[in-house]
Amino acid sequence: MPTAIDPPKNRVWWRDPVDKVEITWIVLALIWCLIMFFMMPYWHVYGKQNLSNEAYRSTPELFSQKTQAMVDKYTVRTETDQKIPVVRPPAGSDVYLIARLWQWWPLLELEAGKSYRLHLMSMDWLHGFSLQPENINIQVHPGYEHVLTVTPTKEGTYSIVCNEYCGINHHTMTSKLYVVK
Ligand code: CUA
Repeated sequence: MPTAIDPPKNRVWWRDPVDKVEITWIVLALIWCLIMFFMMPYWHVYGKQNLSNEAYRSTPELFSQKTQAMVDKYTVRTETDQKIPVVRPPAGSDVYLIARLWQWWPLLELEAGKSYRLHLMSMDWLHGFSLQPENINIQVHPGYEHVLTVTPTKEGTYSIVCNEYCGINHHTMTSKLYVVK
């Protein structure tokens, strides 16, 4: 019985007939590959957690200016001793969220059923925007502004967790997102 490490007996081994079992597995594997391949575009459109996003080059200065302008205009209250602003921007508007060591800033309060353009950017290193329990997962890079169109459907308090290791306090980089009526 020849094994995989022996040289082939015939020089033109590829002309040997393929065993039925082998061809069956090749066909099955091919069909499965094709299913997986077409699932990618299909799931991008019909799997609701895969957000299409746009990305633009930007700078921390520019992005924090835009965030600050939103905070100045639409802050409704502050939370914790750190006085983190809770911002309630108008429905349909552009909303900004800064990721930085080791904080998400500010807190956003969005209206259920309304769409927003959510802009994300890191001020320093790579962070990850993970929205729980919604299974939304976006890498947040320094130097790039990611824009997602989001429509929160259910009211509640959602958790934002950083899911890219970003240093000693990575595990404390958590926040909240409010969705209200
Ligand atoms: Cu930011 Cu981990």
